[in-house]
Amino acid sequence: MLDQQYPGIDGFLGTRGSFMLDVVFVAMLVMVPLMLFSIYLVRYRARFLLHKRIQVSLAMILSVAVAIFEIEQRLVPWTARALPSPYFDPHHKWSCVVGYSLLVHLLFAVPTAVLWIYVVVQALRKFDRLPLPNAYSGTHRYWARLAAMGMTMTAVTGWGFYYLAYVAT
Ligand code: HEM
Repeated sequence: MLDQQYPGIDGFLGTRGSFMLDVVFVAMLVMVPLMLFSIYLVRYRARFLLHKRIQVSLAMILSVAVAIFEIEQRLVPWTARALPSPYFDPHHKWSCVVGYSLLVHLLFAVPTAVLWIYVVVQALRKFDRLPLPNAYSGTHRYWARLAAMGMTMTAVTGWGFYYLAYVAT
């Protein structure tokens, strides 16, 4: 139970997180294992089409979640619900532990978003509709591995920020 009123819609994880913060938190919890499973499928089981379907679905679901999340952030800034955190200083919102952790998170999140768009668009263009290894494979593997590592780090740093800002008391 929250013992205080916060602006915006409360989340469902029982923390100070807002509704969309909680949605993105849980989405990443599902996203990372599914992405790793999809990479396992393509690498060890040669399930190219299933890999394509999972990756394109993940990219679409995540874009919708992030878009709604960004709208929420414009309406209710992230700082409001971070006030009770011992790691947050409202007078130095970017130069306190919570602010630094958000900067580290954004350092991964922003390039990863760009990289994902690039990897998905290029894969759709360069592989056949029923995707099979071809001359583009090497380039895809290189950028796609970076994209997968970026997504994993985005999730880990995101959860770190969430804990520091919205769980810690
Ligand atoms: C951001 C989205 C994606 C990520 C993170 C991703 C990730 C990967 C990774 C890491 C591999 C290499 C696996 C290994 O180590 O052998 C791979 C292979 C492959 N991916 Fe993706 N992928 C994505 C999207 C797609 C899409 C949209 C398609 C199809 C249009 C696709 C088709 C393939 C194919 C055909 C291979 C096998 C390449 C080969 O080994 O010759 N991928 N993917």
